[in-house]
Amino acid sequence: MSARQPPVDPPAGSPAARSAAGVADAVTAHERWSGRFAEPVSDIVKRYTASVGFDRRLADADIDGSLAHARMLASTGILAAADLAAIERGLAQIRQEIADGRFTWSLDQEDVHLNIEKRLTALVGDAGKRLHTARSRNDQVATDVRLWLRGAIDEIARRLVALRRALIDLAEAHAATIMPGFTHLQVAQPVTFGHHLLAYEAMLARDGERLADCRKRVNRLPLGAAALAGTSFPIDRAQVAQALGFDAVIGNSLDAVSDRDFAIEFAAAAALVMIHLSRFAEELVLWSSPRFGFVGLADRFCTGSSIMPQKKNPDVPELVRGKSGRVVGHLVALLALMKAQPLAYNKDNQEDKEPLFDTVDTLSDTLAIMADLVATGITVRADRMRAAAREGFATATDLADYLVRRGAPFRDAHEAVARAVRHAETKGVDLADLALAELRQFSPLVGDDVHAVLTLEGSVAARDHEGGTAPARVRAAAAAARAALPPG
Ligand code: ARG
Repeated sequence: MSARQPPVDPPAGSPAARSAAGVADAVTAHERWSGRFAEPVSDIVKRYTASVGFDRRLADADIDGSLAHARMLASTGILAAADLAAIERGLAQIRQEIADGRFTWSLDQEDVHLNIEKRLTALVGDAGKRLHTARSRNDQVATDVRLWLRGAIDEIARRLVALRRALIDLAEAHAATIMPGFTHLQVAQPVTFGHHLLAYEAMLARDGERLADCRKRVNRLPLGAAALAGTSFPIDRAQVAQALGFDAVIGNSLDAVSDRDFAIEFAAAAALVMIHLSRFAEELVLWSSPRFGFVGLADRFCTGSSIMPQKKNPDVPELVRGKSGRVVGHLVALLALMKAQPLAYNKDNQEDKEPLFDTVDTLSDTLAIMADLVATGITVRADRMRAAAREGFATATDLADYLVRRGAPFRDAHEAVARAVRHAETKGVDLADLALAELRQFSPLVGDDVHAVLTLEGSVAARDHEGGTAPARVRAAAAAARAALPPG
């Protein structure tokens, strides 16, 4: 999904543009401050500097911010009650026009703020022109982006919880399903599939904490900072903050209009979610390949090949992996955007929106699609997992631990088992397939109870402590993870 939507706009300055905008007095944004300017901007500069093609997504937040501002102006006596009533009526109509797709966005009005203000003035006259009293687009845009992002974070948090719930459900169903655990992508020790899934749930739980923490700093009010220094009007910033649901007012006006650290923080938290999901996606790609065959993916998450009839490609996990790179790129773009900007507002900051919007869109879609995939799109092939766990001498550590319990120093036990593994490998069998007498050749401490520790079930059941892979522990961990989910 692209954040960029070209504005519907007839040739600039044409009669069609003026009437389509529904504007009685169709001056352009540039002409608004034309008292200061001797010539109009060229078309390419107009396109280069305009943001309405993408920042119109902020329209609802912009209207909410304007309403809170106007109400405060009225209650502090800066704006007449009749003007407030006209502004409220006009903004309600504009909100409806935008929702219905009837609003004409114009490149001539540069950005979402000027488009809405222009239309308001056309609808309600001078009251519309009074709305911008004690305000600047600098504190206006910072407020809009924060409001918009707060809503986006809340939606993302909900989707994150849905994915976590799906992971917990699947983990509970597979608390005792055995698979090989890997280090260095080599078979290491048996684990349960449920335990493996809960590792991802744990990563996403921390991501949820990070997003909630970031939201606290997003949810502070810049409005009232005006252009950079504050305003000479007797405004009430606390009232605006309360009306808009902000937790606090940003104290320093220069800081309020200029910093985008809240967006950078969000992008960093979002990038981490995507990185976590890319790891899971990579495993799904591996596991669904016929070589592993640990899982099957529902057809709706895969596509075929245009040339190879037998292919079923795991497109969705591959794209999750690929799109994580794009979100990391947005984080880097936002950091680079902010770097070395002098105080206070600079137009550079208009460039914050596309990376931010695309981060939100990509992350939201990824979470929704992964929740669906985990909830109903994965077929678990327990037999294949088990067979793979039997192939890599996954219980070698269990044999070493057994020898230690019988008195061998761990390093000696490690060496004895290494030699037993080499022997089994030459014979092409697993450790569990070696006879008691054969095992005894490697250590006299081997007793006739040894085969119990060499089974996969014995191995996982033995790891019976908090954080371990024993099925009972996995069930308890799943229950704890479920209890930790926010209600809803
Ligand atoms: N469209 C601008 C932005 O996104 C709004 C603020 C412009 N302020 C200004 N003084 N040029 O940042």
